[in-house]
Amino acid sequence: MMMKTLGRILLGLVLLAAGALSPRGQESRSLPPPQTSGGKPVMQALQERRSIREFKPEPLADQQMSDLLWAAFGMNRPEIDHRTAPSAQNTQDIDIYVAMAGGWYRYEAKPHRLVRMGSADLRPLTSGQAFAKVAPVQLIYVSDYGRMPKVKPELRDLYAGVDTGCIVQNVYLYCASAGLATVVHELDRPPLAQAMNLRADQHIVVAQAVGWPK
Ligand SMILES: Cc1cc2nc3c(=O)[nH]c(=O)nc-3n(C[C@H](O)[C@H](O)[C@H](O)COP(=O)(O)O)c2cc1C
Repeated sequence: MMMKTLGRILLGLVLLAAGALSPRGQESRSLPPPQTSGGKPVMQALQERRSIREFKPEPLADQQMSDLLWAAFGMNRPEIDHRTAPSAQNTQDIDIYVAMAGGWYRYEAKPHRLVRMGSADLRPLTSGQAFAKVAPVQLIYVSDYGRMPKVKPELRDLYAGVDTGCIVQNVYLYCASAGLATVVHELDRPPLAQAMNLRADQHIVVAQAVGWPK
């Protein structure tokens, strides 16, 4: 019994050293460094930005996942912990959860990695529309009101919505540049919040499907 426990601790230490576990002991999926140059000129990406609701089921490559998440809300000035999208009073209240066929993850911007949260396929809970079961990636935007202690309570919903909107548009522009399909969409929040075991001060704002256009 003791040997087994020691073995688990050793394995945990090895995985932590290898970057496969977050400090809280959750399994993480490392991402390649984002490609932060290239892509289409911003005016062309704006010209091509649109909602696309028909997807192929093929997963995104690791590099695309890395670039997508960095474009969405990655660290673009790590020396001051600032991000690719603005946030009210720099609260950085939005967490991006990534739902895929094999499980769901939380994006951690500073180490630029995905922390595995569970093995369930949450995609069907993100929308009743057909794309929810087909698009390989659903980004679920969750505002942590615990990060807004100095924001007046009556402003928190507004800030969460605007902060999310900025990230959503980054994703639209990245997808337009990379030839990917995306659509931001409404959802039934309580069942998804329950499946994600969110705290009362974590609020799902919207979700956004991403994948290859059909
Ligand atoms: C807050 C918000 C909620 C949306 N909800 C849905 C939705 O539930 N389902 C959907 O198919 N599109 C949804 N959309 C996408 C809009 O329908 C789409 O942006 C609009 O029709 C304009 O099309 P375009 O994005 O191609 O310019 C939503 C967009 C926003 C900003």
